[in-house]
Amino acid sequence: MKRDFLHITDFTTDEVWEVLNLSKEIKAKLKNGEEFTPFKGKTLAMIFAKPSARTRVSFETGFFKLGGHALFLGPNDIGIGKRESVSDIAEVMSRFNEMIMARLFDHQHIIELAENASVPVVNGLTDFNHPCQIMADIFTVLEYRKSLDNLKVTYIGDGNNIVHSWLMLAMRIPFHFSVACPEGFEPDQELVKKVQSQGLSTIEILHDPYLAVKDSDVVYTDVWASMGQKEEANQRRKLFSKFQVNDELMNSTGRNTYFMHCLPAERGIEVTDSVCDAPYSIIFDQAENRMHAQNAIMLSLMS
Ligand code: CP
Ligand code: NVA
Repeated sequence: MKRDFLHITDFTTDEVWEVLNLSKEIKAKLKNGEEFTPFKGKTLAMIFAKPSARTRVSFETGFFKLGGHALFLGPNDIGIGKRESVSDIAEVMSRFNEMIMARLFDHQHIIELAENASVPVVNGLTDFNHPCQIMADIFTVLEYRKSLDNLKVTYIGDGNNIVHSWLMLAMRIPFHFSVACPEGFEPDQELVKKVQSQGLSTIEILHDPYLAVKDSDVVYTDVWASMGQKEEANQRRKLFSKFQVNDELMNSTGRNTYFMHCLPAERGIEVTDSVCDAPYSIIFDQAENRMHAQNAIMLSLMS
């Protein structure tokens, strides 16, 4: 049966670890200039209903480097759910391509796409989650820390798609995940309850960033207004003003802490330049690792 990667929880714990190990192997092969072309003769359809820099470039170059060819289908090309139904696009794309990657607004649409496609579908972000990002992020943490034991990750800001994928990772790998967000901007309550009741990881939803970051190995943030919410940006800037990641917050963790951001960052808003450019900032390693983690995810789905 074909497999999709729409949520981190679509993989078992063993599969998550397999992807992390495979990411390391593929990254090493590419760095050493080894010939490794498992996608030779294959094509990947990349459907984008929203803008992207990293996701497009990392999937396109990653698929190419592993021997395949990726097609960029932007918001004006396909008109998914508008010009043509999601299910018809799933059927048609499956006739031409060995895999589909999609970045969509509505999470139900990616589920529908996967249900109607006969080839694997990979989620390149929806309003609900961003699983490839968090797989790349945890791979980056592993590279720096060498182990995920006793890990504390703190997320500061909006309880958005990034937070939901961290929460789903917390159902596969044990860690302490602390979130500090303004009241009314908490992550999905049902998901939080589910992760808490599973009991593998420790989850805290707080409203005080200084309390949240204590003893954190990683402080992570993202934009305060995600794609599709940009008209709320001004209002959110007021509501989120105490949640900026700046030197003072980073200096109050009580230990050596890495800074992470999925990017794009609005420098000077949710995070200062000084934090983005600090020696402890690993934001560009995260960005690079998108490609290696996604190559591993795609390879796992193909085999
Ligand atoms: N982090 C991320 O997904 O970036 P893009 O929106 O540029 O693809
Ligand atoms: N939360 C952000 C992530 C961008 C990679 C957004 O959805 O716009």
